[in-house]
Amino acid sequence: MDHTRYEGIERREFVKSAVAIGGTSALTACLGREASQIERTSETASATDDGLSVPRPDDPDDRPAALHHWNDYLVRDGNGNTVLPRHQVVLGLSYTGSVPPTGAEREQVRAALETLDRAFRWGVGDDAGAGVSTGLLWVLGYSASYFEQIGASVPAQITTPESLLSAVDEDPAKADDFDAVLVLTGDFGSIPLAAEAALWGERDQLNGIDVPATLEGVFERTTRRTGITGKGVVAEELDNDEVPEDAPLSMGYRSGFGDNQATEDAVTIDEGAFAGGTTLAASRLHIDIDRWYEQSTEERVGEMFCPAHDAEEIGDTAESLGNSSRITREDAEQIPEHAEEYDRIGHSQKLATARDEGFLPRILRRSEGVATDVAEGAGFNFTSIQPDIEAFVAVRRAMNVDEYDVDVSAENHGIVDYLETRGRTAVVVPTREEVALPVP
Ligand code: HEM
Repeated sequence: MDHTRYEGIERREFVKSAVAIGGTSALTACLGREASQIERTSETASATDDGLSVPRPDDPDDRPAALHHWNDYLVRDGNGNTVLPRHQVVLGLSYTGSVPPTGAEREQVRAALETLDRAFRWGVGDDAGAGVSTGLLWVLGYSASYFEQIGASVPAQITTPESLLSAVDEDPAKADDFDAVLVLTGDFGSIPLAAEAALWGERDQLNGIDVPATLEGVFERTTRRTGITGKGVVAEELDNDEVPEDAPLSMGYRSGFGDNQATEDAVTIDEGAFAGGTTLAASRLHIDIDRWYEQSTEERVGEMFCPAHDAEEIGDTAESLGNSSRITREDAEQIPEHAEEYDRIGHSQKLATARDEGFLPRILRRSEGVATDVAEGAGFNFTSIQPDIEAFVAVRRAMNVDEYDVDVSAENHGIVDYLETRGRTAVVVPTREEVALPVP
């Protein structure tokens, strides 16, 4: 028995569960398991009082003004594609502060969030070639209910979760009633865990930095969703032996290629109160994994990409695709013909019909991950950023069967028939400068 590999799997399992459980004892245990790996990865020798010891930023202000600017700070794979951080903590928050927020509360929130930036590098920091990140990437956004609660007008770029769900023909009852959403991600489980603990006053220090303020009294955590992504860890998480061992995501295929993600500039709000920011669509989905893997590779390739794609070449994980999904304008236009010829059409092919007139994607999918906080079945964290939630609505509607006049059964109509939405909301993400309790 290769003990190091067993230790590796054993450690991964452990860290994954610790992140899912959360709290200080899970963090302490997680730190214990990751310490040697962190030490091997980072050149920082000096241990800190709080047990976490990763490189701190030389200049905490040297980071993007936009909280959604992650691409330059993400690890890249051999094909140049961005690789999302392995561990995700997605927190649904309820606003418990004053109406309207006071200057003191705004200062408190600003100082609490700034601690994250002083304690951790923004992703890989300036170490562009890093194979693993010792930093943190986070984003905070506010929903319509936050603005309604503080007596401000709801920004035009978002809408209530109920109307978002109705707009994509889903059940409004699945609306997530969060006032705000905070996403914390990192390659080491201890990092988002420690960040969360510091924000809610469970730690006096964060990676050797004193914690001067917390979010207590202003934000309460009402929902905690955790997830994991990356080769090798997904198959371990899912209770189905058909999931390819090196699947980066639950349905087998990597998602998000260099050529089919909107650029960060394209998803940035151009003008108005939130200029420089973006909108985030955050969803919890459930995937019928067993039914999905009952299908052949050819059927899965056809439904995930396009039936005209070469299933043999793409295989079970699309690793061979390099940095392109090879979805073309023709693929999008030939949906009726493909439906006729193959009795099947693809998810990517369908959503490509929602690209803009220049055939550029309108949304940037971020932090897609396999849920680690669900007792059974396959949960999935899906978030995307776009300049206006309308862009998400247009793309999501393109998944719906009745958007197409073709005679293809639901289970052969992309992947929508294998998905169920369990929760969804939309938030506006201000710039880093404006992120503390905005009052437009
Ligand atoms: C469990 C849920 C989902 C999984 C596993 C999944 C996975 C994938 C995969 C593997 C691809 C093809 C590779 C690629 O082109 O990136 C893809 C494409 C895409 N997906 Fe999904 N997806 C899911 C849900 C969604 C949802 C809910 C949306 C947004 C409404 C979405 C938006 C897109 C877009 C925009 C593309 C690219 C289409 C284009 O080329 O323009 N996906 N997805």
